[in-house]
Amino acid sequence: MALHLYVWLYLAVLPRTLRYHAERGTDRLTSWETLSTLGPMMAEHRSVHGVGGVGRFDQWCPPLKFRGTEYKLGRLEYDRGCGERPDGTTGSVLHLHIPSGTPLSPDSCDESFDLARAFFERHFPDEPVSHFTCHSWLLDPRLTEYLPERSNIVRFLRRFTLKPPTSGAADLADGDLLEYLFSRPSRQEPVTESRLADLPQETSPQRAYVAHLRSGRNWLARTGWIPYRTAR
Ligand SMILES: CC(C)(COP(=O)(O)OP(=O)(O)OC[C@H]1O[C@@H](n2cnc3c(N)ncnc32)[C@H](O)[C@@H]1OP(=O)(O)O)[C@@H](O)C(=O)NCCC(=O)NCCS
Repeated sequence: MALHLYVWLYLAVLPRTLRYHAERGTDRLTSWETLSTLGPMMAEHRSVHGVGGVGRFDQWCPPLKFRGTEYKLGRLEYDRGCGERPDGTTGSVLHLHIPSGTPLSPDSCDESFDLARAFFERHFPDEPVSHFTCHSWLLDPRLTEYLPERSNIVRFLRRFTLKPPTSGAADLADGDLLEYLFSRPSRQEPVTESRLADLPQETSPQRAYVAHLRSGRNWLARTGWIPYRTAR
């Protein structure tokens, strides 16, 4: 029951969320594309943790969706917010998220940016956006040491102007990548050699992960921006 508590909460607020979407003129397809990601999240929870529910995931993404802040538009998801811009000022930005699923092809990203501009300008004209911004392991430029230039991940990260890395531990992504690349529970503590030796090495990002940590370095989640108007 405890691991399903949030599922019940999301379902309880669903009618209110749908009303809010309708008030903003959101089409039904976008509403359901956005809110039906709860199912895949539960499937992912079962695959990573071996039990149903959502309780052991960080609870940051569904609340954004169920309070009408985040929308899935094509391949990518966007939440409206106030954020830092490249010149150090703050203002309306769209935080971009990359759910697991189909490949992150350049065409699917371009199409999603076009959908996002059309959607937010129509439904939230009072929030003029200056940049798309993203905070993700997918923006760690050291990925280019391991993955080919033609890979979707490298082509994705090359779109962004990066914020200089921070020196703190908050941006360490080693533990989170266990979940994203290996469907293993994410961890806070350092990933030891014995854990590395146990990881499958079937795909290029999985091999990159292990080789990079064995070189004595860490993976970082980096922050980057793309200008809103010209993003392609
Ligand atoms: C982001 C993502 C869609 C990119 O996938 P993609 O478009 O196939 O990426 P690329 O074209 O750059 O790379 C293809 C390689 O990655 C592998 N790959 C793709 N997704 C993978 C995953 N989740 N785990 C392990 N390997 C993966 C492919 O099998 C392929 O391997 P190969 O080169 O050995 O043949 C994918 O990594 C993913 O779903 N990640 C989980 C979600 C995530 O990390 N979101 C960001 C959260 S901050």
